[in-house]
Order: sequence, then C-alpha cells, then structure tokens
Amino acid sequence: MSPIVEITGLSKTFSKRKAVDNVSLTIEQGEIFGLIGPNGAGKTTTMNMLVTLLTPDQGTIRVGGYLLSQSPREIRRLIGFMPDSFGVYGNMTVSEYLDFFGACYKIPPAQRKRLITDLLELVDLTHRQDDMVDKLSRGLKQRLALARVLIHDPELLVLDEPASGLDPRARVEIRALLQEIASLGKTILFSSHILSDVSELCSRLAIMEDGRIITVGALDQLDQAAANRRQLNIKLLGQAGLQPLKEYLENRPGVSNLRDQNGLAHSSRTSVEFEFQGDDQEILHLLQELIEQELPVIHFSVQDRNLEDVFMSTTQGIVS
Ligand SMILES: Nc1ncnc2c1ncn2[C@@H]1O[C@H](COP(=O)(O)OP(=O)(O)O)[C@@H](O)[C@H]1O
Ligand SMILES: [Mg+2]
Repeated sequence: MSPIVEITGLSKTFSKRKAVDNVSLTIEQGEIFGLIGPNGAGKTTTMNMLVTLLTPDQGTIRVGGYLLSQSPREIRRLIGFMPDSFGVYGNMTVSEYLDFFGACYKIPPAQRKRLITDLLELVDLTHRQDDMVDKLSRGLKQRLALARVLIHDPELLVLDEPASGLDPRARVEIRALLQEIASLGKTILFSSHILSDVSELCSRLAIMEDGRIITVGALDQLDQAAANRRQLNIKLLGQAGLQPLKEYLENRPGVSNLRDQNGLAHSSRTSVEFEFQGDDQEILHLLQELIEQELPVIHFSVQDRNLEDVFMSTTQGIVS
C-alpha cells in the first residue's frame, strides 16, 4: 500500500523567517502520527500547507496519491482538518451544529440524521445533543469538533493541538477517542507541544524545531536513539590541551554540539561538553583515542539521557 501522506522538501518563509524548512515526511495508512515541537516550531504552518490552506514556497505534497498542486479538491475530500482554534458557532445546539456542517458537505437530510446520531454516539455527546454549543466545556467542544471533522468520512484526520488547553481527564478522554477513531481505519496526524501527550498514542512521531524535523521514528526507536546520544564532559589539566582537544573532537564522527566551558582564562582546568552518539564500546574508543593523543585528561564523564531529556534540550520554550 502506498503511503497516505508524502511530503518532500516542504518550505515556507514568512517575511524572511523560515517557518518550515525543507520538511520531508511519510505517513502510512492507519498510523497515528504525532508531530511534536515547541510553540513556533512550524507545526501549524506544515499542517496548513497539507490541508491546502497555505501555498508552499517549495516542495511537494501528496495525499492519497494526489498531488496537492494539481488536485487540491480531491485532497480536501480526503482530509478532515481541525484547526488549533475552535471556530465557535455557539448559538446553536450540538446536533444543529453537526447538521450545519453535514449540509455544507451536501449530505442529504435523511442520511444526515443517521450520521449525526452515530457521530454523537462515537464522541459520547448523545446526552448533550440539545444543549447549546457555547454551554459545553472545552473538552466537550473538542469532542464535538472531532465529530465535525468526521462528517464527510475522511480518510485522514489532521488535528492541530487537539489536546491543548484540556484538563488531564479530558486529555485522557481525547486520547481514547483518537484511538477509537483510528480503529475505524482512519489515519491521524496530530500535533502537540507536549511529548507525553503522544508518546503512548502514536505509532510514530516526528520531533520538530525551528522549522525542521529533528528526528522521526517509533517511540522505542527514538528512545534507543536518545539512549545512545549522551552528554559527555571532559576536563583537562591546564590550558594547553584545549585547542588540540577541540580540533580533534570537531572532526570526530559522533560528536555534536561541542561547547567549551572556560570562563576563566587562567584557570588550571579547562573543560568541554558535547553530545556523543554511540554505545559504551564507542565511548571507550573515544577515551582511548584521547589518551593516545596524549591529551591531559583528568576527568571524563558520561550522562545518559532519555527521550524526554532529548526533547527538552533540543527544543525550547515549551509551555504545557
Ligand atoms: N501568517 C504568518 N505570518 C508571519 N509569521 C508566521 C505566520 N504564521 C506563522 N508564522 C511564524 O512561523 C513560525 C512557525 O509558526 P507555527 O507554524 O504557528 O508554529 P507552531 O504551530 O509549531 O507553534 C513562527 O515563528 C511564527 O511566528
Ligand atoms: Mg501551532
């Protein structure tokens, strides 16, 4: 089966700022795919391009085999999109609200009634169907919005921050509902700025920052990658070895994000910190190499990290 979403080299710039920078992503049918990143990462911009609301500067998007630049209407039919802000038509009842959207999709009235009954049952709002929309709590409004995006029976749901602003109980309920919707055979792409929202739910996730996808994979793969990406700290006796050490590390595969920590010019110790991609055996090799280079290493420490640490350190400005 071909992937339901194929994004290649997608970019979008707003007045010089690259909101989305060369993003490529593939989503398979039936996946629950999480797009995770802090505010400003480019999640909404990516989704808006995917759902045809925003024109990309560069890149191609395919949904269900259709090329977005050629067949936007076909793609719109395949997608149910829930934006991050809830468009409120508060002055109608829950069932009128769904009926209105059903009419927008030209679903015949007789069929509509049945459909609305089913959808209300799915999102567990049957008992509130005659209540005014603006009387619903945020969590219930979110469930109503989910019913709304399902009304034309889309293949792919694109949900921008569906759990944001919800209390913990409502978050759990939304997660359960997304799982139920996925079990109906729908593919779900959703965004969040909170890692724990997605970690249990997603088949795969992508971490996005500053317009770019930093990493993509199943949670256990990312956990493994995170576990092999550790923080190392090396201290040297005196200043003399610092420059050769930095030069060595800069050219050493596996080393990234090298920083030296030397505030005091005449300190008797100098130290560097960096991230290292590799298992224990590779760390041992690195230490042996430094000794062979006759660098005056007096301290060598390794800090293990988990996925949450990687997420927190690769992304900033997280608001929960
Ligand atoms: N219409 C716009 N005009 C100008 N800048 C924008 C616009 N939309 C988004 N941006 C900028 O693009 C970047 C990515 O924003 P966005 O896609 O909303 O991120 P996220 O959804 O991950 O919080 C941010 O720096 C934001 O300020
Ligand atoms: Mg957003």
